[in-house]
Amino acid sequence: MIAIGSDHAGFEYKTQLKKLLDEIEKPYQDFGTTSPDSVDYPDIAHIVSKAVASGKCLQGILICGTGIGMSIVANKHKGIRAATCESPASAKLSREHNDANILCFGERIVSWETATEIVKTFLSTPFSGGERHMCRIEKIHSLTNL
Ligand code: RB5
Repeated sequence: MIAIGSDHAGFEYKTQLKKLLDEIEKPYQDFGTTSPDSVDYPDIAHIVSKAVASGKCLQGILICGTGIGMSIVANKHKGIRAATCESPASAKLSREHNDANILCFGERIVSWETATEIVKTFLSTPFSGGERHMCRIEKIHSLTNL
């Protein structure tokens, strides 16, 4: 299950995202927002991040104006590795190297065509694994090096 969410600035793309996920047969749960009326992106990012961090959903997709605010909030949650992606290449590497579990992007930044490729790439790319990347991911979540 993929947790999805947007603020008002990402609402149009979230509507299109649902059609895309239906087409590629990926089940999702929509955590809002439910209209183009203004909302605060942290409210949505926290809900989606909790769904992923708890294991209720395997991955998440968050859309705002830039993707940046959503990722800043999501990365406050334990176990979340959120990546703001502006290209399919960054989506691919965020999965392969960082095992990113939440994808963020901006409706004001990327075209819907690019967003489509970003989503498809993110959802179809596995984590590379291997000691090198595993060790670095453990360090992301370790506070002992501070
Ligand atoms: C909303 O205007 C905008 O600030 C928000 O969608 C996002 O881009 C924040 O990072």
